[in-house]
Amino acid sequence: MCGIVGYIGRKEKKEILLDGLQELEYRGYDSAGIAVIEGEKLNNFKAVGKLENLRNKTNTFESEGFGVSIGHTRWATHGKPTELNAHPHLGAYSYVVHNGIIENYQELKKELQNEGVTFLSQTDTETIVHLFEKYHKELGDPFKAFEKTIERLEGAYATLLITEAAPDTVFFAKNGSPMLLGFDGNEVYFASSDTPIIGKANEVYYLEDGEYGYAKEEEVKLFDATGEKSFTKQALTADKALAQKDGYRFFMEKEIYEQSRVMSDTMIGRILEDSIYFEELPEDFFEGIYAIKICACGTSYHSALAASYLFERIGKMRCDVEIASEFRYKEPFLTDKTLFITISQSGETADTLEALKMAKAAGLKTLTICNVDNSSIVRESDAAILTRAGIEKGVASTKAFATQSMVLWMLALYVGQIRHSVSEETLKREIDAMLHTPKALVVEDKLHERIHRLSKRYLHGHGFFFIGRDIFYPLALEGALKLKEISYLHAEGYPAGEMKHGPIALADSELFTIALMPRSLLYDKIKSNVEELSARDATILAISPEPFELADDFIQTRYDSHPILEYFEMMVVTQLLALEISVRLGNDVDMPRNLAKSVTVE
Ligand code: G6P
Repeated sequence: MCGIVGYIGRKEKKEILLDGLQELEYRGYDSAGIAVIEGEKLNNFKAVGKLENLRNKTNTFESEGFGVSIGHTRWATHGKPTELNAHPHLGAYSYVVHNGIIENYQELKKELQNEGVTFLSQTDTETIVHLFEKYHKELGDPFKAFEKTIERLEGAYATLLITEAAPDTVFFAKNGSPMLLGFDGNEVYFASSDTPIIGKANEVYYLEDGEYGYAKEEEVKLFDATGEKSFTKQALTADKALAQKDGYRFFMEKEIYEQSRVMSDTMIGRILEDSIYFEELPEDFFEGIYAIKICACGTSYHSALAASYLFERIGKMRCDVEIASEFRYKEPFLTDKTLFITISQSGETADTLEALKMAKAAGLKTLTICNVDNSSIVRESDAAILTRAGIEKGVASTKAFATQSMVLWMLALYVGQIRHSVSEETLKREIDAMLHTPKALVVEDKLHERIHRLSKRYLHGHGFFFIGRDIFYPLALEGALKLKEISYLHAEGYPAGEMKHGPIALADSELFTIALMPRSLLYDKIKSNVEELSARDATILAISPEPFELADDFIQTRYDSHPILEYFEMMVVTQLLALEISVRLGNDVDMPRNLAKSVTVE
């Protein structure tokens, strides 16, 4: 997601900020900016696109002597990637950078606007700097004003603020998004991960949620809800590659572990107490719409397939799904009462983009679900909902798929809500389950260790069948795709009930069946399908909350209260299984052979 750097000291601040932001490039961004206060001088530069653009803009700017400075790379979530929306955001005399999402920003923004504040950007971040200046006027003390500002913020954030009212100070706070302080003598560094400060600082303190404070050249004060607190610095790692992966072995592994957190970002501001809300969709967006057609490729196609069950079951809206490359040449029959949805992680997939253009040409209303704002598919669509997964580096998609599934689940419920096809009770039950998804996605050490140990038994054989029913069928397809992509072993996803219509002929002890056996959905049905395979001596790995005596191997999952919680939990198991098999086979997990992250050719 977004990246933050900051520095207090006497070195050339521009260079430290730009170098630091460069180190964060791998996290993805669409615009960047810096702000420096030196004595009375306040300077601010922003640019859309690559850091190179920001470098060019700051060419003639030099910052020597003591000063404070902050910088940011932005990955758009609220508002387009424009210069106005890039950080740092300016008040009358202060600048702020921020990662995460301020959940109550609309309420705060309204409050400030009523008091006469003018907003320049569409971001949630800008509320922080205006709130700060409002409280500074009221209280006269910058730190008290910052403290009061932080108290008002709801959601996940990491933020740095500098102000002419305290030109030697950087104010910092963390809640839910990462932030650290780095130290080298009197110099203080700030960053959202350790890569920008490796080789610069030699000690570090990783802030905990709820901590905030201020830093000057010779004084760093830390606070939390209980008051001022002391902190212990630790030595800083020197391994940049490891730091980029936040200590994980592979980007894919890091991204699997990130799913719990990004899922919260995906939901923020969209799940209200008893309803679903998308600020991206005009109120009448679904007026006159009687059916949905979804087009996508690869992993995105699988999230679409799962969603088709939900649109029909929860939203009571007909929904069919097509692979974009097939759709393009089938001379599709399109009617204008159909909403055309495209799903794409990158927003650049050529087949999906062309399918979208065809639908538009036929006069259909279009919506895209995408992870990259301003991408070609987002620009082409009438409306877009961002998945907020942050950049995904591993070619095998994980968190992008998880967040797509989440947005689609919310959208299906939203359709049900506006069409009054869901009861209050169902709405409540679904929302309650949604709020539990971050927990269902937490990877427990015990689980990862078990999958690691089991994986050694699955390095050979003549093929894998991932089987499931209902939404677990698309999940089986996705599990098989993950395994294929990074292990290069043959794997297929199949509807469990279809095995007896042909594929069961392959069953023997060298045929590995990965059975997705949720407790909350069609358990007895899938159980008898697996029994049929077991009777033919297939090797069975059962994934279920319910122990299954006919399985050769068994991975026990925790949730059985809602099918989609089971879906997310089993998704993690299949991702880790693919990862561990790939590692044992010595493959390149993050850059598998023959594959590309974004396929912009037909
Ligand atoms: C490529 C990637 C897949 C991805 C597919 C669709 O093949 O390797 O991981 O699922 O494109 O990409 P999109 O960006 O449209 O979701």
